[in-house]
Amino acid sequence: MSELINEHTQTILGGKGSGKTTLLIYKGVDLIHNSRKVVLIDCGGVITKTKLSQYPEQIKAKIRLMGLQRKGLEAILGSKKQLKFLLTGLLSNDRKLTILRLELTSQESRYFFDCVSEYLLRYKNLIILIDESQEVLPQNGRENYSQELERLVRVGRNYNTVIFLASQRPQFLNKKVMALSDIFYFGNIQYYLDSRICAEILGVSLTKDKNNLRRGLKSLKLGKFYRIKEGRIEIINYDISSGKEQTTSTKDITWLGGE
Ligand SMILES: Nc1ncnc2c1ncn2[C@@H]1O[C@H](COP(=O)(O)OP(=O)(O)O)[C@@H](O)[C@H]1O
Ligand SMILES: [Mg+2]
Repeated sequence: MSELINEHTQTILGGKGSGKTTLLIYKGVDLIHNSRKVVLIDCGGVITKTKLSQYPEQIKAKIRLMGLQRKGLEAILGSKKQLKFLLTGLLSNDRKLTILRLELTSQESRYFFDCVSEYLLRYKNLIILIDESQEVLPQNGRENYSQELERLVRVGRNYNTVIFLASQRPQFLNKKVMALSDIFYFGNIQYYLDSRICAEILGVSLTKDKNNLRRGLKSLKLGKFYRIKEGRIEIINYDISSGKEQTTSTKDITWLGGE
């Protein structure tokens, strides 16, 4: 059974190697069954054929991989026809998860989003997963920040568009944009400053609770995430061979102070 999406913005935070990209890919593949168009945009430029080869056959069969390099970007910036061509390519197949790997600098990726976001908004009912989203929605550094992507996140909910943002450095992802999230996923986080952002998101203020949260985030195993929704924390686990999500326990946020 694939889930119906009522939450329009979801944010996935976790250190490098905590399983974020895998979670995005499995979520994306699961969501194609809602007869929505699902696009994963890889701002880190790391999702390659080789990387995908480790996934089970039944998952790989549902993925289409495209790449965009500087030359392609120049073409779409220079011609509406090329832009339409790219969008048609991205959105033509609703039976598969389309992954677009951006082989671009942060600034070029920002140009890309400034250019396509307006069109993506018009399509409605899209599901857009953005990996390494801090590249285009940074907390600092206005020159790489895509106002158009922010608008897509803000206004997209009125068009029934669902956006997932993933980032490996919570402190570098823009807080105003994160604040729009209905659901958060936290994976393994080692850095103090990153777990501090998670405490802020949860509204955890007591030192004891912050320390417990930090310890919890530090010890989360690969593929395990805290999912925070409406004041509750679920601990979920992703099975790599099936992509099945298992909830191992559900707790109130006050649990942080209790154990
Ligand atoms: N649920 C899981 N179970 C087992 N291995 C996993 C799981 N999720 C990810 N992995 C493996 O861990 C590695 C890092 O995962 P990845 O999703 O790329 O992490 P991230 O995007 O957070 O850096 C990959 O080689 C992947 O195959
Ligand atoms: Mg990744």
